[in-house]
Amino acid sequence: MKDLSNKKILFIICGGISAYKCLETIRLFKKNNAKIKTILTKSAKEFVTPLSVSSLSQGKVYDDLFNLENESEMDHISLSRWADVIVVAPATANTISKLSQGSAEELASTVILASNKPVFLAPAMNVQMWEHQSTKNNLKILKNYGYKLIGPEIGDMACGEYGEGKMSEPLDIFNQVKEFLSLKFKNKKIKALVTAGPTNEHIDPVRFITNKSSGKQGYEIAKCLSRRGFQTTLISGPTNLKINENVNLIKVETAEEMLRATQQNLPTDIAIFAAAVADYKLNKKNYDKIKKKDNLTLNLEQNIDILNYVANHNSMRPNLVIGFAAETSNLEENAVYKLKNKNCDWIIANDVSKKDIGFESDYNEITIHYKNPSYKKEWLSLRKKSEISEEIVNRIVAQIN
Ligand code: PMT
Repeated sequence: MKDLSNKKILFIICGGISAYKCLETIRLFKKNNAKIKTILTKSAKEFVTPLSVSSLSQGKVYDDLFNLENESEMDHISLSRWADVIVVAPATANTISKLSQGSAEELASTVILASNKPVFLAPAMNVQMWEHQSTKNNLKILKNYGYKLIGPEIGDMACGEYGEGKMSEPLDIFNQVKEFLSLKFKNKKIKALVTAGPTNEHIDPVRFITNKSSGKQGYEIAKCLSRRGFQTTLISGPTNLKINENVNLIKVETAEEMLRATQQNLPTDIAIFAAAVADYKLNKKNYDKIKKKDNLTLNLEQNIDILNYVANHNSMRPNLVIGFAAETSNLEENAVYKLKNKNCDWIIANDVSKKDIGFESDYNEITIHYKNPSYKKEWLSLRKKSEISEEIVNRIVAQIN
C-alpha cells in the first residue's frame, strides 16, 4: 500500500504533555491521504487546541458526548463504525484505567467501548506510573481485549525523570498503524476456514453422543482472523456462543454436516481444525426413540476425518493446514503422530487431562508442532483462549507474509 487513501482513522487525543506529538502524527496520516476524524478529551484541550487539531486534520473535532449538534451529525456509534482503526494517544494512565473498566463517562471512552474496530494505544506516562502494578493489570485486561500497544519508549521524560513511559515518536506511530492497515487489506483477499465445537451423533431422535467442547477456542481464533482482515468462515457444531465479528458462521450438528459444510467452503487458503469432531456415529439411524431394555448394544462406525480429508485433498489442499490434538497422555508423541499421519503443516497440542484447560475452560496451554522447520515445537504457557488465539494468528500472519 503506497498511501493510505480511503483508510479511515479515528484519532483520540488524551490529556498528557506529549499530546503535542499528535499534531505531527495527524499531519503524517493526512500527508498519506488518510481520512481523519479526531476526538479531544476535556484534559487534552489543556495541551492542544481544537483549532490546531481541526486545521491539521481538516475536519471537525468531536469532544462532547452530550453535544446535540455532534450527535445529530455523527453520534458515538457512527463514529466508531466509521473508522478502520482507532488510535489513542497519549494513552495516559488514567485513560488506560478507564478503558480497562469499560467506562462510558465521556465521548472518547464511550466510542471505544462501542467500537468493534482495532484499537491502538500509544501510552505515555511517568516511569513509576508505567511500572505500577495497577497499570500493568489494566494493560493486561486491554491486551486481552485485543488492543495493540505502540511503545512506550525509554528516555528522558517531561517530568525530568528517565525511564520507560515516553510516548513513541509520530513516525513510529504512523508506521505501525500503516503496516497494520496494509496487512489487513492484503489479508482481505485471503480466505480462512475454522471448525469449532463438538458434533452430536444421534442415537435416536432424542439422544446423541457428544463431548465437552464449548467451541471457545475455535470461536476466538475465528474472531482474531476476522479482526486481522481475513475472509473468515467458521463452521461450528452446537454451542451457546455468539459471534458478532464479520465472520461467516455456518452452524452444523453432526460430523457429516461439518464435512459437507467444509467441502462447500473449499478452496480456502488457511484451514484450522479446532472442532472436537465425534470419531464415531451409529451405523444405522433409529427413527423412533429406543425403548428401555436390559441390555442395549449400540453399533458404531467411524466418522470420516475432516482434517485428514482436507489436508490430503488432491486439488484443493489449503496452503496452511492446522490441526489440533486433544490428548490425555503422551501429548507430544500423539501430537507428532497426528501431524505426520494427517498431513498437517502445524498441529496444536493441548493436554485436556489437566484441570481448567482445554475443554470448556476460558484458558488453554498449547504446544505448536511445526512440520517445517523439521518438527520444531513451541510451547505457549497457560493464558486466556483469546490470547492463545492472538498468538496463533500472529504466527499465521508471519508465515503467510
Ligand atoms: O471447544 P473448547 O471447549 O474451547 O475446547 C477446545 C478444544 C480442547 C476442543 C480444542 O483446543 C481442541 O483440542 N480441538 C481438537 C479436539 C479433537 O477432537 O482432537 P483430536 O485429537 O481428537 O483430533 C485431531 C484433529 O482432527 C483435530 O484438529 C480435529 O478437529 C480433527 N478431526 C478429528 C476427527 C474427525 N472426524 N474430523 C476431524 O477433523
